[in-house]
Amino acid sequence: MKINGTHYRSVWLADDGYTVEIFDQTKLPFQVQIIRLHTMQDAAIAIKEMWVRGAPLIGAVAAYGMALAMRQENSDEKLQQAYDILVKTRPTAVNLKWALERSYRILKNTEHALRVETAYRIADEIADEDVELCRKIGEHGLKIIQSVAETKPVGEAVNILTHCNAGWLATVDWGTALAPIYMAHDAGIKLHVWVDETRPRNQGGLTAFELGSHGVPHTLIADNAGGHLMQHGKVDLCMVGTDRTTARGDVCNKIGTYLKALAAKANQVPFYVALPSPTLDVTVWDGVKEIPIEQRSDEEQSHVYGITPEGTRSWVNTAPQGTFCENYAFDVTPAEFITGLITERGICAASEEGLRALFPDLYRQQP
Ligand code: MRU
Repeated sequence: MKINGTHYRSVWLADDGYTVEIFDQTKLPFQVQIIRLHTMQDAAIAIKEMWVRGAPLIGAVAAYGMALAMRQENSDEKLQQAYDILVKTRPTAVNLKWALERSYRILKNTEHALRVETAYRIADEIADEDVELCRKIGEHGLKIIQSVAETKPVGEAVNILTHCNAGWLATVDWGTALAPIYMAHDAGIKLHVWVDETRPRNQGGLTAFELGSHGVPHTLIADNAGGHLMQHGKVDLCMVGTDRTTARGDVCNKIGTYLKALAAKANQVPFYVALPSPTLDVTVWDGVKEIPIEQRSDEEQSHVYGITPEGTRSWVNTAPQGTFCENYAFDVTPAEFITGLITERGICAASEEGLRALFPDLYRQQP
């Protein structure tokens, strides 16, 4: 996708052919800063500190982290160490483990001298595949937006509410939930997006940055505004991403997604979740009971991050000194609240039957 007319992916190989470049997403939307990752440890810090974030993107960066590790040393010990360090960086999004296992499995069976080039090939493949999966999600999701647009009076925009950032910054390109929105906009459908601020990390700012760069009309709202807007008929549909989707269609996504789904159900607003298949974890059935929910630092809750009128990035404390905070990064929306799942193979019900019909290969791999 484009920033100021230049096409970017959210991760790419630098000119030297081996270091890895990313946007420091902690600086966005205020400052577009590119960071270079030289070592596996750099990649681990980038994921943990959320310089990169979003389920598919952290999977791709982890795969490049394995390649950087192999360049540092191509031994079995280094391979194991890289896997162990990278897999612990963030616990909830399953794409991280999926990418690392894919890379580890192949590299373990590759002779040492070929490990560097193989590791980079795997990382490139994971990145390229993600772009293609997201493009297909966009094409399928576009049909949903088109059908809603047909029900609207002439000249009225389709109003879509989204939570967190499920755009190209969360993937390698296109995005998951935002891919259909970009395609609908490009197809000339009149759209307006309600962008949840998404405290405490304010990923809504990233979504607003992306939509603004693409020319999609949007409005940033407080996380608590969605229910009110739905009650007043101002939301035609919700579209969000997911960090892990279970075998029966429960969806784990950014904290606050569940509340939006409850409000959507109460107000008969369709609630769609977009996911590429690496986000599907068929080893998990009950999302509420089984998915590990990341808890991040209390400082992210007690402070708000922003930019001063002088242009300095700054943290501001909003809580009384010493207030105890908790910071759950994700929640689970049970399948019953989800209208449909938008995948690269089409749209299905959020149920085992729905997912199994589209992904029999993934379900077959289970014992
Ligand atoms: O904590 P983050 O910013 O990594 O969380 C990201 C999300 O929750 C996204 O909605 C999710 O990864 C799906 S978007 C591709």
